[in-house]
Amino acid sequence: MHLALATDAQKAERDRVTHAAWGSPLSVEQFHQRELRLRAHPWCREGMRTWLWLDDAGQVLASCETFHTDSYLRGPDGVATRGVSQAIASVFTESALRGHGHATRLMDEVAARLEHESPNHHTALLFSDVGPALYRRSGYHEAPAWDWQLSAVGGLSTHAVDALLCDGDVPGVVARTQRPDVPFLLWPSAAQMDWHLERERIYSELLHRPRPEACGATVGNSSALWAMMARYGELVVLLLDAESVEDAVALLEAARGVAHRAGLARVVIWEEPATLPWVARVPGALRVARDGSLPMMRPLRPGLPPAERVAFSRALWV
Ligand SMILES: CC(C)(COP(=O)(O)OP(=O)(O)OC[C@H]1O[C@@H](n2cnc3c(N)ncnc32)[C@H](O)[C@@H]1OP(=O)(O)O)[C@@H](O)C(=O)NCCC(=O)NCCS
Repeated sequence: MHLALATDAQKAERDRVTHAAWGSPLSVEQFHQRELRLRAHPWCREGMRTWLWLDDAGQVLASCETFHTDSYLRGPDGVATRGVSQAIASVFTESALRGHGHATRLMDEVAARLEHESPNHHTALLFSDVGPALYRRSGYHEAPAWDWQLSAVGGLSTHAVDALLCDGDVPGVVARTQRPDVPFLLWPSAAQMDWHLERERIYSELLHRPRPEACGATVGNSSALWAMMARYGELVVLLLDAESVEDAVALLEAARGVAHRAGLARVVIWEEPATLPWVARVPGALRVARDGSLPMMRPLRPGLPPAERVAFSRALWV
């Protein structure tokens, strides 16, 4: 058995089998088109790879993808150095092949490969939809996962914010956002932010569903970015950079109004230490244990803090 990177033809083949797990409500062909478009996105072209775990006859036993994610690690001198973390997604074994340890071997081999690949690698991370046990076997540890939910509300005005944002505003917002000064930081680039909007664009085109009128808002020096997850009736906040509780309330009220006008049921904000003080004070915000998307990480070098001390923003999700 061995690990290999998929060719374009093998990627297309995997699109057809993984449709069973992630394709609905798209047809097999629409899902393949979605995957082609996502792989062509600038963020994926920077460093997305599809890994195959193969038997000696060349049959694919399991597969997954890795995405290049920017991260910053503070050294003993107190200076943060930029490196690379690898977000793992779409771990998949076909039904007939499950329960033989193929996914576990794949995860072990990918991590070992990443560990030796580059001295700039910081950590591997993933968002588990199958709980922690499978990935713990391969050295991953989970972080707490709580969400804050706000119902979408009609009649809310967006007058309390200075501006609603469109796709072209995203790089400016990301560039202006102050990076938190923490020992280790996973920090999505503007291209990674836009990947979430590319998903929104793709679903909106394939399912003939209009996009929300805005992908974020600003007030003073504070801003928020969000994206529609139409299948779940949610507007998910990708980034919340608020200077005060008043700004957080104004930005999230705008999000609730935009969500309502887009026909969505709620706004979802992943709990993070940096935003918790603001979000917890927003009237009507409800804290719920997250269902799926459990953040887990496996360091690729010494010196990283444990997963429970690392912030996993929604923008890092793959
Ligand atoms: C999850 C998956 C990749 C496991 O593949 P596999 O090759 O059978 O994995 P392994 O043989 O290495 O390990 C199997 C373990 O995973 C566990 N597992 C599989 N699906 C699970 C689920 N939905 N919830 C919790 N555990 C699950 C099995 O119970 C088994 O545990 P056990 O050995 O203690 O009984 C495979 O079931 C799959 O492709 N599922 C659909 C896609 C998916 O959900 N991927 C994970 C996204 S985070």
